[in-house]
Amino acid sequence: MGKILIVFATRSNETKGIADLIGEGIRMAGHEADVKKVGEVKNEENLKGYDGYVFGSATYHGEMISSMKQLLFIAERAELKGKPGGAFGAFGWSGEAPGRIFDTMANIYGMSMVPAGPLMLKAGWVEGGMKASQEYGKDIAAMI
Ligand SMILES: Cc1cc2nc3c(=O)[nH]c(=O)nc-3n(C[C@H](O)[C@H](O)[C@H](O)COP(=O)(O)O)c2cc1C
Repeated sequence: MGKILIVFATRSNETKGIADLIGEGIRMAGHEADVKKVGEVKNEENLKGYDGYVFGSATYHGEMISSMKQLLFIAERAELKGKPGGAFGAFGWSGEAPGRIFDTMANIYGMSMVPAGPLMLKAGWVEGGMKASQEYGKDIAAMI
């Protein structure tokens, strides 16, 4: 059984909802999922011991939340090369954050990113949102 870490940044918890559903999908696929708020990851040591990583942030003013930017600098030192990865986030209209996170994981860390690309949803509870989030978790679980 593998273990996947999901880290999310949110202001009003829609991205947390998606994170929890991705975690459910990973567990449905028979693996372990840890779902953490971005502030719980203080250094690269906190990122060790996982077989895959999924990072998510809501989009505000065309960007990811700044605490997720800090996490991405921490993750740069965590030797994630070749590990399975994915990115997600709640958005209102433009949704830049998931794509930016996804590209950093691919281009800077050299991770093996989920072919589906970043998961962008208005929220986990919108029609089809639960299934899409769970499937995203299953897709990443299938890569470990
Ligand atoms: C002040 C403000 C700025 C926002 N800016 C953007 C934006 O630039 N692009 C976008 O897609 N959504 C934007 N949104 C919408 C949020 O991304 C959306 O409400 C999302 O569900 C929030 O997720 P969260 O609950 O995880 O924080 C903005 C919302 C607020 C309140």
